[in-house]
Amino acid sequence: MTDPTFEPKIVGFMCNWCSYRAADLAGTARIKYAPNVRIIRVMCSGRVDPTFVMNALSLGADGVMIAGCHPGECHYVDQNYKAMRRYAMLRQTLVQMGLEPERFRLIWASAAEGQQLAEAIDTMVEDVRKLGPLHWPANWEENGQREHALESIVREHEEAMEVKR
Ligand code: FES
Repeated sequence: MTDPTFEPKIVGFMCNWCSYRAADLAGTARIKYAPNVRIIRVMCSGRVDPTFVMNALSLGADGVMIAGCHPGECHYVDQNYKAMRRYAMLRQTLVQMGLEPERFRLIWASAAEGQQLAEAIDTMVEDVRKLGPLHWPANWEENGQREHALESIVREHEEAMEVKR
């Protein structure tokens, strides 16, 4: 039975040029969405290294979302196709490690799609809520370290703010 008090922690790696702006738009347009997503801005979905995802999951996230520009609209030409390939491979690996596929998603949201992004976030939060906590971070304590640890993902990978080809 699922814990009714469980609030999933989702890490969202969002592309600066589209999905991050969609989240901004959702905020300014007062579109409500679940507050369970900790958004980390990256310059492109193609810059999300698999280690970012693994770190997020091992540091206490119950799920990870990558959000980028629609195929054909990446500001770095074809980097979101790279994100797509990486996602497919990493997803397969994570599933083999026992992760439920609902916990790891790649979505597309343009800067104008605040509503769609909000709906995708709500859907993911509800799906992960049904699954319950991930329980990978065995030594995790809810004492404020989670926020610090999740922030460290960005600090450790500051180069994520630049796109390398
Ligand atoms: S710039 Fe948005 S996915 Fe590449």
